[in-house]
Amino acid sequence: MTTYQLHLTVNEHPVVATVEPHLTLLEFLRDTLGLTGTKEGCSTGHCGACTVVADGDPISPCLMLAAEADGRDILTVEGLGANGELHPIQAAFVTKGGLQCGFCTSGMLLAALTLLKSNPQPAEAEIRRSLAGNLCRCTGYQKIIEAVQQAAEEMNHGR
Ligand code: FES
Ligand code: FES
Repeated sequence: MTTYQLHLTVNEHPVVATVEPHLTLLEFLRDTLGLTGTKEGCSTGHCGACTVVADGDPISPCLMLAAEADGRDILTVEGLGANGELHPIQAAFVTKGGLQCGFCTSGMLLAALTLLKSNPQPAEAEIRRSLAGNLCRCTGYQKIIEAVQQAAEEMNHGR
């Protein structure tokens, strides 16, 4: 069978791997690299649970082949915190109660991060629009919105 050699960056670490052509990026992250913080919900690009950041943009790795990630810079939830500290977005989700079962949370965090990088002071409607592709069956969304608002404040004040 044809295989592909990949060179990519995952959470700031260079990764070299040989993959089969049918392997999705989601399977590669979870099963090959063991980064199981990225969740698999629908597998069809509809739920947002698998959201990761690729070259600064949120993507659904269930819809991308691992081979297509060659040369890309991927951020997963495991790369969010630093030195044992939660990222301000993670801390805000905790203090605002923006999660219950947690299944949607890694995707929400990464979608929120890309929003705040491009728009550090989003209006509530912009937050809701940016997270519209990320489904949550537990929280009712309001606490997630409040968590993103708090994270924006913290990040804008360099905390
Ligand atoms: S698992 Fe990828 S969008 Fe649902
Ligand atoms: S916290 Fe359970 S799906 Fe969002």
